[in-house]
Amino acid sequence: MNESIDPRALFTLSYGVYILSTGYEGKYNGQIINALMQLTGDPICVAACLHKNNYTTELVEKSGRFSVSVLEDSVPLQFIGIFGFRCGREFDKFKECSYEVREEGLPLVVDYSLAGIEAKVLSVQDVFTHKLFVGRVEKAVLLKEGYPLTYANYHRVKKGKSPANAPSAIFNKVK
Ligand SMILES: Cc1cc2nc3c(=O)[nH]c(=O)nc-3n(C[C@H](O)[C@H](O)[C@H](O)COP(=O)(O)O)c2cc1C
Repeated sequence: MNESIDPRALFTLSYGVYILSTGYEGKYNGQIINALMQLTGDPICVAACLHKNNYTTELVEKSGRFSVSVLEDSVPLQFIGIFGFRCGREFDKFKECSYEVREEGLPLVVDYSLAGIEAKVLSVQDVFTHKLFVGRVEKAVLLKEGYPLTYANYHRVKKGKSPANAPSAIFNKVK
C-alpha cells in the first residue's frame, strides 16, 4: 500500500453490517456487506460496493434488484460466517436461514434482522476490484426494535475478521 496512507485512519470510518441478497431465475444468494450507505432522501437511494468475484455481484447485475437486511448487535459470528466467508456458487446459503420472498422473486433474510430494504439498480460503476451499485429504494420495513451491529463492534467486540473480498480487508493487518 502507498506509504502515505495509514490504514488506521481509514479504520475510523463508521459502517453497519448487512446481508445484501438477490434472486435470479429462482436462485437466491446473499453476502455480508459493510460498504453500503444511504445517498439521497427524495427519492431515497443507496449505494452498495461488491467485489467483482462474488457470486452476489453476478446475480445483482443480472436481476437488477437487491435487498438489504440490517443485522442486529446480537447476531452470532457463525451466522455472519455463512454469508461473509462462503461463496454461493458452492453452497446454498438460503438453506441455512429464514427468509421471505418479496416482489419479483427478491429474497430478504429475516434472521437477526432489524429492517429490510429493497432497491432497484439505477447504475453500476466500475471501482477497480469492485462494482458500485446505486439503487433506488422501493420498500423498507422495520422488522423489530433493537440495536444495529456496527462494523466497529464486529471487530472490537465480536473479534471478527474481514475476508479478502471486503473493501476493508486491509484492516486485518493493523489489528
Ligand atoms: C464483516 C464483513 C464485511 C464485508 N464487507 C464486504 C463489502 O463491503 N463488499 C464486498 O464485496 N464483500 C464484503 N465482504 C465479503 C463477502 O461477504 C464475501 O466475500 C462473501 O463470501 C461473498 O459471497 P458470494 O460469493 O456468495 O457472493 C464482507 C465480509 C464480512 C465478514
